[in-house]
Amino acid sequence: MKMNWDNLGFGLTPTDFMYVMKTSGDGCVFDDGQITPYGNIEISPSAGVFNYGQGLFEGAKAYRREDGHVQLFRIEENARRIKMGADRLCMPAPSVEQFVDAITKTVLANKHWVPPAGKGSLYLRPLLFGSGSVLGIGPAPEYSFIIFASPIGNWYKNGSSAMSLLIQNKVARASLGGTGGIKSITNYAPVFEVVQKAKAQGFADVLFLDAATGKNIEEVSSCNIFIVKGNLISTPALQGTILPGITRRSVIEIALDFGYQVEERDVPVKEVLDADEVFCTGTAVGITPVASITYQDKKVEYKTGEETVSNKLRVNLTGIQTGAMEDKMGWTVMID
Ligand SMILES: Cc1ncc(COP(=O)(O)O)c(C=O)c1O
Repeated sequence: MKMNWDNLGFGLTPTDFMYVMKTSGDGCVFDDGQITPYGNIEISPSAGVFNYGQGLFEGAKAYRREDGHVQLFRIEENARRIKMGADRLCMPAPSVEQFVDAITKTVLANKHWVPPAGKGSLYLRPLLFGSGSVLGIGPAPEYSFIIFASPIGNWYKNGSSAMSLLIQNKVARASLGGTGGIKSITNYAPVFEVVQKAKAQGFADVLFLDAATGKNIEEVSSCNIFIVKGNLISTPALQGTILPGITRRSVIEIALDFGYQVEERDVPVKEVLDADEVFCTGTAVGITPVASITYQDKKVEYKTGEETVSNKLRVNLTGIQTGAMEDKMGWTVMID
């Protein structure tokens, strides 16, 4: 297939190969996996994932540098996060080494699908799920780990990619003691309805509030959120209700390195409406400015564009991820 790299969007473009690894024996240990042609998998209707939602996913990207080499960004953090989620959902997880090896093999097998420098990235989607049959409610007796890939475009193109968000107080995404802090597949469909309604009204996404008080912001359906006021950058603390984003952590470290004051704490809606800037972070969106937030029919607009804190952070993070800037943090690894 001849790709037009200039028109890459966010839909799935299937690539040639995927990675498949299963547990064997007592269902606790992952055997050596293999690269296989991308395609459908066979699975029992009584698999744990279909019946009881025992499943996790991850998201990562491979980037092509200007010199043509391909690199990964903090990939061992994805391995640690899936392990954390697996512990919570009573699943075995691949070791960090197995995870990184599997990602590397998947990227190398699909190397010609990594877009040219600056045109996008190869999005990687690891899945971990109960594939064994189970009828009584409980963990499955066998697990599968699969990685597939798809080239995608850059979210941030220019100022026009700034998001407009809606705060609503009908649906909470996660609650204390729940699974908001892991990338469980069960966290996503419950917000489809409210996000679809917001999109139909012209919003890019929904900004969720904490379930306990409805007073503090938490995160957006697929990314974390930060607010900026003067030299202070604030983001909701990790209390098990928001995903510990790898981009979130990286932004905090870069911002501290730049000399900003960074606070992880409760962030009240009141303060968000009074911020200078707001921005979202995630593997898919990178660092994307928020143009406006609508709350109780009131729309507040924020500063976007070249002269913003979020743009300074974005240029730096993207530079590291794509190899255009020196990686003093030691976050990237070239794999070819
Ligand atoms: C709910 C949610 N929050 C935040 C993020 C951002 O996390 P990361 O920066 O690791 O991609 C994601 C995406 O992975 C997500 O699904």
